[in-house]
Amino acid sequence: MPKTKIFADKNLKIGAIDPNIYGSFLEHLGRAVYGGIYEPGHPSADKDGFREDVVALIRELGVPLVRYPGGNFVSGYDWKDGIGKKSERKARLDLAWASVEPNEFGTDEFMKWCKKAGIQPMLAVNMGTGTPKDALELFEYCNHPSGTYYSDLRRKNASEEPYGVKYWCIGNEMDGPWQICGLTAEDYGKKALNTMRMLRWADAKKADEEGAVKFVVCGSCHAQMPTYPEWDRIVLEHTYEETNYISMHQYYQYRPSSKNPLEDFLGSADNMGDFIDTVRSTINYVRAKNRSKHRVYISFDEWNIWSQDAPRTEPNWVKAPRILEDVYTFRDMLVFGGMMNALLNHADVVKAACLAQLVNVIAPIMTQKGGAAIRQTTFYPFRYVSQNGRGETIRSITTSGSFDSMYGKARLVNEAVTHDASKREVCVFLCNYGQSPEEIELELRSFGDLVCREYVCIAGNDLDAANTFSSPDAVVPEQREPLAVKDGTKAQLRADAMSWNFLRFSY
Ligand code: AHR
Repeated sequence: MPKTKIFADKNLKIGAIDPNIYGSFLEHLGRAVYGGIYEPGHPSADKDGFREDVVALIRELGVPLVRYPGGNFVSGYDWKDGIGKKSERKARLDLAWASVEPNEFGTDEFMKWCKKAGIQPMLAVNMGTGTPKDALELFEYCNHPSGTYYSDLRRKNASEEPYGVKYWCIGNEMDGPWQICGLTAEDYGKKALNTMRMLRWADAKKADEEGAVKFVVCGSCHAQMPTYPEWDRIVLEHTYEETNYISMHQYYQYRPSSKNPLEDFLGSADNMGDFIDTVRSTINYVRAKNRSKHRVYISFDEWNIWSQDAPRTEPNWVKAPRILEDVYTFRDMLVFGGMMNALLNHADVVKAACLAQLVNVIAPIMTQKGGAAIRQTTFYPFRYVSQNGRGETIRSITTSGSFDSMYGKARLVNEAVTHDASKREVCVFLCNYGQSPEEIELELRSFGDLVCREYVCIAGNDLDAANTFSSPDAVVPEQREPLAVKDGTKAQLRADAMSWNFLRFSY
């Protein structure tokens, strides 16, 4: 007898999956830019110094959008330091990460790199030391065709054509006490509104108009902030009609010292879903209060696992220190898979998301100076979900058991079901968080006669197993025999204890 039943019907949809939920994030932090995507002299570097081995891995990951240049970094960054002749650019103190920013790589280099990697840029403007005027000037530099000081400067420096940047983040984590020139919700709400208005006037299109630029205002920087969720309400009350998204950020970590370390960590995936539900409710509250027809969505533009207790071992005030270089374990990969399911299961409201980050800094890709680029454990669930989790998410109903975590009850079997009508495919992404194998019956109705085409599993590993430069393939996905399907709708799966699973059906 199956212990867990998962039921899904084609007609019961959650919402369309915006491909931008598979975005990522690149900050001027540690070796993300310098030594990550950019390493002049590396054997795979092109004439601009962009590492082609890294670009190839990013393409394999299936990342459509990258948020840049921060992060905490952006709140002290003067974008004008990063343009023009490289020999004349000045190195500056980066207070966010106690590093030296050489400014060898700036807006024009990022735009060129995006073009090479087939990526859509999402630019963050400085709402810390920066003013609305600085943001407008950056906007003019990037998006205005010609005939003004900054647009002509861009034409002179780098590109005749405007960059046409569509996504603009209005600051970063302005509620955080660590943020350079952080603000209260009231002050940030007013500043963000004024900034968005100026950028909208420069864009000359209304918020909901076709082709208009899109704005993201800062939501709470995580769910444990004492000001959460009031911050989100107040910011939205100031900015609701102008903004298109409110941001969410959340990092989880494995804490061996906690009471039930494994359960507490595995409970993160369901907790992420609860967090999204609260922010959704806050958006709906403000929409109702404003009697508004406008829709604001969530940009979950920083999410990942990050061991924030690890002490810094690199000196301060150097260029590109080795910091935040988390090595992801098999255990991390399991939670990561559940976090991706949380994004999919909220596809109706989460319309953009950025895995934080992309290379070297809490990232799925790690590089060696002058050497290799490797895939961390978390690379694999991201790759499978971004390449296959397309179309729409279907609501799944489950009889899964549960376990207790520091966040409350969490599901033992954590799944998401997607349907891509254009490819006539149904996919199931599933984590078994149980310590023993789980018999699971899938019933996928109304799609037609389903045939299982692919079954991939990541299982059987030591929880601490990780991919390293000396052992890059310690944790890799395994192709298994596709499942038999009964009556075109039912399939029986024996999910390994502690496993991540991917099933692809066609009809
Ligand atoms: O991604 C690392 C940091 O985490 C970002 O700079 C900041 O926005 C968040 O606190």
